[in-house]
Amino acid sequence: MKASAVAHPNIALAKYWGKQPGADNVPAVPSLSVTLAGMQTKTTVELDPSLREDELIIGGSLVAGPARRKGVKVLDLLRRRATGPVPFARVVSENDFPTASGLASSASGMAALAVAGAGAYGLSLDAAELSSIAREGSASAARSLFGGYVELVPGHPAAPVASPSRLPLRVIVCVVSEAAKETSSTDGMTQTQAASPYYSAWTAFAPQVFADLKAALLAGDFERVGELAESSALAMHASAMAAGVIYFREPTYEVYREVKRLRREGLAAYATMDAGPHVKVLTKPEDAPKVSRALASVPGVLRLIEASPGPGATRLA
Ligand code: PMV
Repeated sequence: MKASAVAHPNIALAKYWGKQPGADNVPAVPSLSVTLAGMQTKTTVELDPSLREDELIIGGSLVAGPARRKGVKVLDLLRRRATGPVPFARVVSENDFPTASGLASSASGMAALAVAGAGAYGLSLDAAELSSIAREGSASAARSLFGGYVELVPGHPAAPVASPSRLPLRVIVCVVSEAAKETSSTDGMTQTQAASPYYSAWTAFAPQVFADLKAALLAGDFERVGELAESSALAMHASAMAAGVIYFREPTYEVYREVKRLRREGLAAYATMDAGPHVKVLTKPEDAPKVSRALASVPGVLRLIEASPGPGATRLA
């Protein structure tokens, strides 16, 4: 009747942006991510027969609107598989990083919810099934079920591609705002698909970047992975921008400039960003101290979070 789980966010190196038609939240293009230790969501699901609907509390606040709908969708999918009484659930979730600001809190949130919810409803589902359930809440969450490097190919459950040791890296997250983002990823994708003259260019480009990045990752080629991750993110944002969906703020550009300057100095540094203004800088473990010091002094960078490849979602005892 009660279970808890921990999950970590993931950062896509080869991004997905856009969805296939239909209600089951299938991405339009394949993506490849790294799950991150250093940031986490902890979620407890408790079934309560006195509840008349599911209650979701994130960071101490009762959640309504689209964020609640995503969570209820995951809980409904679990209830459909359960036998016996299926009371509504009280979900209490805490992130140790900014929520809903483009730091993949929905990825770790939906992954932790799927694992804890399955425990509370007494289901024993394997990681691939849990991943498909989490995907319906948030497609990127499908990848957070697994640790290390993970792919999500449309029509398949997410699957691990390589362990963290295949490509040791550090991800330095440059936090440039503590506020929630203005345009959710779902709304940003909908607008891009409806209005961007470059959306078809993006969907043609993304599968090639995915394939090249996967090959570079399996070859352990950090530079090539970094270059491809940077161009995946820029192409995604270019297609979004052409529809008026702009996640960049001034400090975002400043970090991109600094990353280029660091590369000219011979350091490993590549930038990627998601549906929010923060930039995630990929670097090698040995370059991380210098790269961090430089990023910390970029105007508008409020703080850094340093992360490395980490484990998949786990149920707590
Ligand atoms: O599935 P969502 O709503 O979490 O969207 C994720 C979109 C990006 O983070 C921009 C890309 C990705 O592949 O994670």
